[in-house]
Amino acid sequence: MYRTTSCNSLRKDHSGQTVTLAGWVNSRRDHGGVIFIDLRDREGLTQVVFRPEEHPQVAEASHGLRGEDVIQVTGTVSPRLEGTDNAKLATGQIEVIASELKVLNKSDVPPFQLDSKVANEDLRLTYRYLDLRRTEMKNNLKLRHRVTKSTRDFLDEQGFLEIETPVLSNPTPEGARDFLVPSRLNPGSFYALPQAPQQYKQLLQVAGLEKYFQIARCFRDEDLRADRQPEFTQIDLEASFITAHEIQTLIEGLLTRIFRESLGVDIPTPFPRMSYAVAMDKYGSDKPDLRFGVEIVELSDIFADSQFKVFRSVLDNGGVIRAINAKGAATALSKEQLKKWEEWVKTEFGAKGLAYIRLKDGEWESPIVKFFSEAEKNALAAKMGFEEGDVLFFGADKPQPVSDVLGRVRLRVADLLKLTEGSTALNFLWVVDFPLLQFSPEDNTWVAVHHPFTRPKAEDVHLLEKGEYAAIRAEAYDVVLNGVELGGGSIRIHEKDLQARLFEALGIGPEEQQHKFGHLLRAFSFGAPPHGGIALGLDRLVMLLCGAESIREVIAFPKNNRGVDLMTHSPVEVEPRLLRDLAISSTAKKA
Ligand code: AMO
Ligand code: AMP
Repeated sequence: MYRTTSCNSLRKDHSGQTVTLAGWVNSRRDHGGVIFIDLRDREGLTQVVFRPEEHPQVAEASHGLRGEDVIQVTGTVSPRLEGTDNAKLATGQIEVIASELKVLNKSDVPPFQLDSKVANEDLRLTYRYLDLRRTEMKNNLKLRHRVTKSTRDFLDEQGFLEIETPVLSNPTPEGARDFLVPSRLNPGSFYALPQAPQQYKQLLQVAGLEKYFQIARCFRDEDLRADRQPEFTQIDLEASFITAHEIQTLIEGLLTRIFRESLGVDIPTPFPRMSYAVAMDKYGSDKPDLRFGVEIVELSDIFADSQFKVFRSVLDNGGVIRAINAKGAATALSKEQLKKWEEWVKTEFGAKGLAYIRLKDGEWESPIVKFFSEAEKNALAAKMGFEEGDVLFFGADKPQPVSDVLGRVRLRVADLLKLTEGSTALNFLWVVDFPLLQFSPEDNTWVAVHHPFTRPKAEDVHLLEKGEYAAIRAEAYDVVLNGVELGGGSIRIHEKDLQARLFEALGIGPEEQQHKFGHLLRAFSFGAPPHGGIALGLDRLVMLLCGAESIREVIAFPKNNRGVDLMTHSPVEVEPRLLRDLAISSTAKKA
């Protein structure tokens, strides 16, 4: 037996007991020949003392111990001396007086200190097994385990079956690129790794399984960010004979359970609901962060007779004038900074400009205010609640680009003014009534906003026949927490003809439909039940629960922003012979 208990278990009541512990040397201090060691295992720390007067040989051996050596220690639990308790440790009232020491393995000097925050993420990822020894990372992974455990318990109680679906599968469109896997047995043919188990979970409904879930691995070849990895995990579910409202209630129940069991926090339900249109108009985002206001205000009526040429031409061309008020930002935003913000919206979002007014020392400082009448200024100040110390930002363009730009500016204002700093608020929200389709000018075609299997709202189906695609709303919903899209789902199309009609709207002709989705259309002709579902991003959920800034903090072995695993160096080049076996030749030049 390596140990009798963990490094987090001993208390004052255990005094006098002989115990054996095993773990890593977390730290070592030499107090005049008496060696103190904090011994660490997964559960915590215990102070071990090596006293030369009691066990001279053991104490002698302890002098050779270094950080991260793996040892086994036997000794007697003893209360700490008066005044030496460590209130920060669960075991802080005791220490173990060592009588035996066995070094199980020596460690090299680690490349970074494990007990402090390590700034260099590349270094952390290169030595991830050391990084994961840090308490913070271990706690993140423990919390992740609790979340999946709560999920399984809750969904099991609700009658859901956990069913695995293939990882070697067909392309399923979720808006990203597919990772492809060549088939040796079928030269020239490829599997796609699933962007989501979307089609399989629908086929499980056709199969009559009724309630499916899976903690599902998903793969998407897209540009990576703090909340995006090429492989990530979804809490994925699908059910038959269920309404959108019932799915939302189920998810509220699941999240309530998860937050209670992982953080001990009760979240209020039901979550508020907001239409996509309102979210875009007021917050410029389909995942609005409602922890702060800074709402976008419509000003087109105030400037209906504007003499300012930019506003005039925008309004004459069916555009809108809108603004946000960055309350109290006048000191934080110098003229140079305002210029930089203007450059930022131009280069990053293709905006035409970012007009502003800064109210400082009673002055309206602005490049555009000279074009405003007194009446316009008064109406503007009243509608925006514009006061000393405030900065107004204007967007003038078609509604969509104005929303996009002011939505970004809104977030940057919140960042600048630290509006969410220290906040413990949990602002859950359902965003509903998404548009079904959106025109993509780059591809010159309509694309599905959610995915092509999403159902149009019953009252909007007739617009499909009229070709009024932009006006069709989808039976789709996203759940948002503090401005992060946690999950999204929809009620699906279960009728073959409607599905074919939708593919057609997406520019997928009958032949391509058969080629890519023949299996689904065929399945729908054999009594497919009405069904719907949702998927939550597990990594994002755990990130928010941990208060982490990136999902890399809650994934054991993530990739960096270039999609590389710095520890194993994956992806790697392979031997030409392996490529030949797969009937593949590479044209890539070595970097
Ligand atoms: P969607 O594409 O919205 O829906 O994905 C669901 C949730 O998965 C998370 N997510 C990601 N997390 C980390 N890295 C990524 N690259 C990444 N991409 C997505 C997000 C997102 O909300 N099949 C549908 C669901 C359905 O209709 O039932 C789907 O996959 O949190
Ligand atoms: P200009 O007349 O082009 O020099 O612009 C005057 C001010 O209006 C500058 O601060 C521009 O950034 C701003 N501006 C120009 N076009 C727009 C627009 N479409 N939306 C918001 N501000 C704009």
